Amino acid sequence: MLTDLTPQPPDKILQLMQIFRDDPRTDKIDLGVGVYKNAEGVTPVMRAVKAAERRLVETQETKTYTNLRGDPAYCSAMRELLLKDSAGDGRVAVAAAPGGTGAIRQGLELMRYADRATTVWMSSPTWPNHLTIASYLGVPMREYRYFDAATRDVDFDGMIEDLEDAKNGDLVLLHGCCHNPTGANLAAEQWETLADLLARRGAIPFIDIAYQGFGDGLDEDAFGTRLLASRMPEMLIAASCSKNFGLYRERTGVLVAIAPDAGSRPLVQDTLAYLNRQNFSFPPDHGARVVQMILDTPDLRSDWQAELEDVRNGMLGLRERLASELRMRSNSERFDFITRHRGMFSRIGATPEQVLDLRERHGIYMVGDSRINVAGLNSDTVPVLAQAIIDVGI
Ligand code: LMR
Repeated sequence: MLTDLTPQPPDKILQLMQIFRDDPRTDKIDLGVGVYKNAEGVTPVMRAVKAAERRLVETQETKTYTNLRGDPAYCSAMRELLLKDSAGDGRVAVAAAPGGTGAIRQGLELMRYADRATTVWMSSPTWPNHLTIASYLGVPMREYRYFDAATRDVDFDGMIEDLEDAKNGDLVLLHGCCHNPTGANLAAEQWETLADLLARRGAIPFIDIAYQGFGDGLDEDAFGTRLLASRMPEMLIAASCSKNFGLYRERTGVLVAIAPDAGSRPLVQDTLAYLNRQNFSFPPDHGARVVQMILDTPDLRSDWQAELEDVRNGMLGLRERLASELRMRSNSERFDFITRHRGMFSRIGATPEQVLDLRERHGIYMVGDSRINVAGLNSDTVPVLAQAIIDVGI
């Protein structure tokens, strides 16, 4: 058996992390994996997380199993953070999952378990793991256009045209905010148009929201998610606390399933718990408990929100500075899309050769599709990147 295994191509983002670590140059710049770094290049434990962990150590008396769907208080705190009261009463089922990736996987498992001939529509481009998980599970996929390579904005006409083909019951995987890998996001009126289309086609939105608070603010970044939750009879949401709570390695996330009515919610909730049991039994609790303590304790919550705002504003400042350096060096406004993008990422539109050139000649690492992690920059490296972008001829 073990000699019959098929080798898999390495995950491009994780492979890049390793190549960067192995590069001996001291002035190398990591704009690869989507991890927030402060000006000193450190991914800090957030203040509120440290404080909650201290309180947890002092007060936690047992580590016996919690609930199969995760700690109920964590599930409701996350429901409130994501949805406020947009979905109305009693329709929302929530289960903790091991990170946003675990939630995506559980969402696709749920769809498979429902045993419908369902297609999942993927944004083109999307986070590569969406595609590999769906393909691993044997879920049929189709793509919808999302990014206009010329303007570096959303190709909304293309998106709508493609999604007109969605069938009743198909799942449409959408990025709730801070699109990964492009940084291009839907405007409020585009979410409205999309909601109308999905409702008309009977398609079910599946929102991946991994960067709430990194774009325009906690509530602003949930706009599309809440709009769809208020309109659609059914919906799935995979949410991650890796980035906005900085809990990457604790694997903290939730899968939310919005049922058509309160009467059908208990079965949905039981199914989420059942699927947890089949895949990993009880979900990880440490990160979840920390998040719940932060969200439900006013002093921790306000400190967390303040730090998250600093992180968000820091990234916006880096975007402004990078665009202005590029304006100066290119004598044009062709890189201004960087200020329109939101979140950690921007796809800057370099060819694979230029990406390689940036890595080999300049020690600047970005994902092969020319996605940069803006949070990997600081005021010293912004001009270095800008000059290198001009030098390689982007
Ligand atoms: C990324 O897109 O870089 C992050 O979501 C990290 C990952 O797991 O790929």
